[in-house]
Amino acid sequence: MLITWDEDLRTGNAQIDHQHMYLIEQANRFYETHENNFGQEKIDRMFSNLKRYVGKHFQAEERLMEGLAYPKLSEHREQHLEFAAKVNDLEQQLQLGEKITATTLKYILRDWLVHHIRQHDFELAGFTKKNRARTIPSL
Ligand SMILES: [Fe+2]
Ligand SMILES: [Fe+2]
Repeated sequence: MLITWDEDLRTGNAQIDHQHMYLIEQANRFYETHENNFGQEKIDRMFSNLKRYVGKHFQAEERLMEGLAYPKLSEHREQHLEFAAKVNDLEQQLQLGEKITATTLKYILRDWLVHHIRQHDFELAGFTKKNRARTIPSL
């Protein structure tokens, strides 16, 4: 298991949390397939599932930030671009048949992602709550 879902990762925004759980599941699936060497075809399939979902999730967060005129949108998007570039590097290595170490995968797919969620996504989720509280009167 690469990443274990933990309550520490819950941002409090149900939509974001749901997507993070699925994202973690995709990262874990790819990692297990890669580490156990389940064959190139399966490894490639799991990787493209992960990459596709990363793209969808980042797009969803960015649309949310745009809708809220989130002040840290460009900073947050920069982080997404940085991660997407790392994912592209991994893809290239996979395509070239280069060996990717478990340490590299842990650093990129676990450490980076967990740090991003804890720092940037928590901040965004907090903002969505405050914003809703301001626009929707509580009953
Ligand atoms: Fe994010
Ligand atoms: Fe996220």
